[in-house]
Amino acid sequence: MKRFFMLAVATMLAVSARADEGMWLLPLLQKMNKSALKEAGCHLSPAEIYSAGKTSLKDAIVHFGGGCTGEIISDEGLVVTNHHCGYSHIQALSTPEHNYLMDGFWAMTRAEEIPCKGLTVTFLQSMEDVTATLEKAGKKAGKDASDEEKAKAVQERRQELLDAAKKANPGCEVGIVPFYNDNVAYLIVSKVYRDVRFVGAPPASIGKFGGETDNWMWPRHTGDFSMFRVYAGADNEPADFAPENRPYQPKKHLKISLKGLKSQDYTMILGYPGRTQRFQTAPQLAQMIATNRIRIDARTLRQGIMWEAMCADPDVQLKYANKYASSANGWKKWQGEELAFEKLDIIGREQRKEAAFMDWVAEKRSRIDAYGGALTRIQEAVKAAAADENAITLITEVPFRIELVTIASRFAAAAGKGPRQDNALTPEALKMGLEAVRSYYRDYVPELDRKEAAALLAYYREQADSADFLQGLGEDFATMDIPAYVDKLFSNSVFTSAEKLGEAINGEQAAEVIAGDPASLLHRAVIAAALAHYPNYTAQAKLLQEGSRQFAAGLLEWEKGQPSYPDANSTMRLTWGHVLPYSPKDAVLYRHYSTLTGVMEKEDPENPEFIVPARLKELYRTRDFGPYADAADGMVHTCFLTNNDITGGNSGSPVLNADGELVGLAFDGNWESMSSDVMFEPDLQRCICVDIRYVLFLVDRFGGAPHIVKELDIVK
Ligand code: ARG
Repeated sequence: MKRFFMLAVATMLAVSARADEGMWLLPLLQKMNKSALKEAGCHLSPAEIYSAGKTSLKDAIVHFGGGCTGEIISDEGLVVTNHHCGYSHIQALSTPEHNYLMDGFWAMTRAEEIPCKGLTVTFLQSMEDVTATLEKAGKKAGKDASDEEKAKAVQERRQELLDAAKKANPGCEVGIVPFYNDNVAYLIVSKVYRDVRFVGAPPASIGKFGGETDNWMWPRHTGDFSMFRVYAGADNEPADFAPENRPYQPKKHLKISLKGLKSQDYTMILGYPGRTQRFQTAPQLAQMIATNRIRIDARTLRQGIMWEAMCADPDVQLKYANKYASSANGWKKWQGEELAFEKLDIIGREQRKEAAFMDWVAEKRSRIDAYGGALTRIQEAVKAAAADENAITLITEVPFRIELVTIASRFAAAAGKGPRQDNALTPEALKMGLEAVRSYYRDYVPELDRKEAAALLAYYREQADSADFLQGLGEDFATMDIPAYVDKLFSNSVFTSAEKLGEAINGEQAAEVIAGDPASLLHRAVIAAALAHYPNYTAQAKLLQEGSRQFAAGLLEWEKGQPSYPDANSTMRLTWGHVLPYSPKDAVLYRHYSTLTGVMEKEDPENPEFIVPARLKELYRTRDFGPYADAADGMVHTCFLTNNDITGGNSGSPVLNADGELVGLAFDGNWESMSSDVMFEPDLQRCICVDIRYVLFLVDRFGGAPHIVKELDIVK
């Protein structure tokens, strides 16, 4: 036993010493990562993973709904992603009578697949480095050209590139995206499909098993997946929803392996990581932690009120499920980040890195002009912007979170785009406003919002600088009776329901009524408070951007010759690594996988986050696992750990084995390394994945949808 343990620790250290850090850019794999990939155990060549011209793995990966990743797993456009990525759509399709969120759903025929309004999936076509082309355009403007003239020349070249790409790729979206803090630019071509239909998902008791308690944590037992299908027009190209659209015929779909993985096995993930801060400096990181704290405290207050109302009424629970989950996800992440910053001395380590960088700059005298001032410039800008940034954060997290303000804001934004007459909104413009907010009311509970509003306004008055107090409410914010004001607000505003709003915009003096509505006044007061901070904040942000660009350029030169990857920016990346256990603290070693047994152990009928459906218990009791049990232990494995380098946006990403076959979906990070967006922690950082065998077990045995499994390409 002891020998086994020592051996396990020794191999763990040996592997983790080779840090599998990096969210690598696909077009650079060949040049930067070819041998490392092979050495790590990958059986595919870079061209099989990404190729601009030929079909490659990347053609099976989609940006799902703009914020997650999904992958194509059949030749009829079937997409799998996380349950939490499909969550808002599943919730929007659910009613108390057809509660797909709580009860789960499987379309038994194509006709039963349900269109998801507004949901898109995006396929990457190609990405091309255009940095040199743009730089050349700037230089061509001439030595004596002013900065403005140079910027204009670059801008013109950008437009030419975009126009040419648009012409060469009809029906595609094109964009030029900055990388490495604006030191590098890529031209990215992608294709967006907009008829996407819900195929199925397990009930939330499985798809979100463990709820907020287990979120960001290991050991984990969540069946975090859902399925959709991409539809296309008769020509297989993107089309608006139409009943006659056909399942999209993909260039590539992923094969699925039921073999499972052992500790130390190779894994890779292709996906769309959203944002990281790995090029940020110590002062920026300290400021990030400060604004996070403002957000955490505000959300603690708001979520507490929401949670109470949700627990008291199942209707409210369904309506607020998605609002609560997305608020709580960030709230918990920032708390973990704060703790990890402290424990792992993130800022101290960043400071030491910066000191070493400055030593290098001092040694390389020729680079002093280029990089010597970057860190000071950043530090000064962060300091000069901090008070404004904190104030804006407080405003966005507190009064702006009153839903009535959100509604008034969306209404104003949409109506503002409509026509005016004598500077007043026309009936047509008002109608545009109403249409923009109509769907919001579906999940809106005014009594809950009223409670939140009273608490949020009182909290804001306590926390805000008096200069930021809300003006123009018809009362003095500093002294007013907040509960009485909120009562009047909710009794008198027409924004509390679609009916009242509809009546008002069709009534007499509609434009005046809307402009003078107490919710409009509150919305304008909140905006005015925020706007007061913008001139300085944006001026500093510009200086910060310039300093950050220089610093990143310096870092790249400092580490020249070593492979490097830019911060995540919602573009497709590859991370490779290995299946690995970890030790969260002294004397504790976490195994690299969890099983259905753990689901049963966590069951708590008293706690809505840990309900286990009776059918799952029955399947467990009878060991009715089919081909989905692990060959070694005969049990269904639920989740597993790898050291792949991911962040938010990677949710739903395919976890692939050395042969590029799908073995799981990435869905979370672990609590002990919540600083991972800033620094990769080889010993602690893990990616939490749901095992594809659990997914298929749930579709086939639990969901009773074997026809879905038949559609898949399973390698035996
Ligand atoms: N932490 C996950 C992520 O950010 C989201 C998990 C959603 N689940 C939840 N219980 N809120 O990707």
